Amino acid sequence: MTDVSSMGSQPGDERPTLTNRQGHPVYDNQNQRTIGARGPATLENYQFLEKISHFDRERIPERVVHARGTTAYGFFEAYGKLGDEPISRFTRAKLFQEAGKRTDVAVRFSTVIGGRDSSEAARDPRGFAVKFYTEDGNWDLVGNNLAVFFIRDAIKFPDVIHALKPDPVTFRQEPNRIFDFMSQTPECMHMLVNLFSPRGIPADYRHMQGFGVNTYKWVNAEGVTHLVKYHWMPKQGVRSMTVADAAAVQAKELGHATKDLRDSIDRGEFPEWELLVQIMSDDEHPELDFDPLDDTKVWPENEFPALPVGRMVLNRSVQNNFAENEQISFGTGVLVDGLDFSDDKMLVGRTFSYSDTQRYRVGPNYLQLPVNQAKNAKVRTNQRDGQMTYYVDGEGENPHVNYEPSITGGLREAQYPTRDEQGPVVSGRLTRKRIPRTNDYTQAGQRYALMEQWERDDLVLNFVTLLSQAERPIQERMVWHFLMVDDDLGLRVGEGLGIGPEDVAHLEPLATQNLSEEELGRLSNLG
Ligand code: HEM
Repeated sequence: MTDVSSMGSQPGDERPTLTNRQGHPVYDNQNQRTIGARGPATLENYQFLEKISHFDRERIPERVVHARGTTAYGFFEAYGKLGDEPISRFTRAKLFQEAGKRTDVAVRFSTVIGGRDSSEAARDPRGFAVKFYTEDGNWDLVGNNLAVFFIRDAIKFPDVIHALKPDPVTFRQEPNRIFDFMSQTPECMHMLVNLFSPRGIPADYRHMQGFGVNTYKWVNAEGVTHLVKYHWMPKQGVRSMTVADAAAVQAKELGHATKDLRDSIDRGEFPEWELLVQIMSDDEHPELDFDPLDDTKVWPENEFPALPVGRMVLNRSVQNNFAENEQISFGTGVLVDGLDFSDDKMLVGRTFSYSDTQRYRVGPNYLQLPVNQAKNAKVRTNQRDGQMTYYVDGEGENPHVNYEPSITGGLREAQYPTRDEQGPVVSGRLTRKRIPRTNDYTQAGQRYALMEQWERDDLVLNFVTLLSQAERPIQERMVWHFLMVDDDLGLRVGEGLGIGPEDVAHLEPLATQNLSEEELGRLSNLG
């Protein structure tokens, strides 16, 4: 028998030749170099060592959250208006101004807790991160599919994620750990009634909403600021899965949502979302029973209507999962002129965390990678060198000047588009305090009341199933919270666990709670 494993290519085979990274042709890709056919191998075998050592380095750390995801490209098209008013009244951001103006986007959808190859049918929030490649540089809108979040202060993020991630000993996601943390964190109730309802398992990425969740600001040409919240509404409609649906899906395919998005784009069925914005004046709004900077709250749509500002279409899949999906990097600090942060205490933490983790996960020059570059703006910095530097970021006329200021060339500062001061004056004492209007239960109760009966049944079943795996004091505290959310919810979950209101009436409010008048009323009913 002829040994074809070491023959090199055959005459007449016109395919490109395999080389190593130094451009040397590879004549034999089947056999190491050895002394005699049975070895031993030699250490100078450059081709083999390069191949193996590069393979050894193929992985970068997966994202600490949102590790499993998929990316697609498309465009955002502005309507030029906010409701009936020209949008320029509220923001000077160029991408929104003219009706029909298109901006390139890259969107990454994700699950949060599982690892890079985990199931996409898990009960978990979904990430919905959009990178707009605008002429003024990139804007990232890093959102989720549920409108609220578990916590309202970034200092709690590592705790909530540790509780949700697998147990450090058993490496199993443990309901006892999850509800231990949640039962001590009343502000998460609104998120929990969403996450454990059918909305907690979206059918796929095309049929889900997106929300900026945190409060941002818009700035107009006069420097007047407004508070805003962003919402993406799918033209395809919203669809969810029951636990049984999800079990059937993940028995066959762990990445069904990634596949669905790619298949739909390949078929020419381009998914589309409308972007809507809720807006309010930039002040504390003492008339509201919640703080507009609190991301555990929604803004009631009857008072703050969600107004359409544009639409987004996804029409192209990635060609290289690693380069375009694994290395794409979003952050809440990535804003363009006309958009700004609010004082939402989550945003500051997020804004530090994203680029910090990306310098570690992808590398200090992650912004030089094609998917992350501000490809529709000119990038000119004095940042130089570091690991994996590939080019100089658009130097000025004099390549010797990589500092500023200089009278011999180099880059100069930009001029303010209008004025540098904007928004209300802020003053106060340095402190560590909760926001005064916590009101942790009202909106969770309203959400429950708005659900259809089958959704409530599903929510109760999910809570009972998981809480059955938790210790009794944790169950009791959760029933106490649910009674504060809504009598029916508390009674039904309690019934499923064998815990009546009388069993929890002795529990005091947590030391970390400021109860509102209304909540104190509910508390007195509890006994
Ligand atoms: C990803 C931190 C809250 C949405 C991440 C990553 C970190 C992080 C470190 C990984 C980023 C990377 O490796 O590239 C935080 C912190 C938060 C917070 C510290 C709270 C203080 C939120 C909230 C939302 C959100 C409230 C939703 C509005 C996302 C999304 C991704 C992500 C969508 C994935 C982005 C992608 O697809 O690459 N977050 N996060 N995060 N986060 Fe957060």
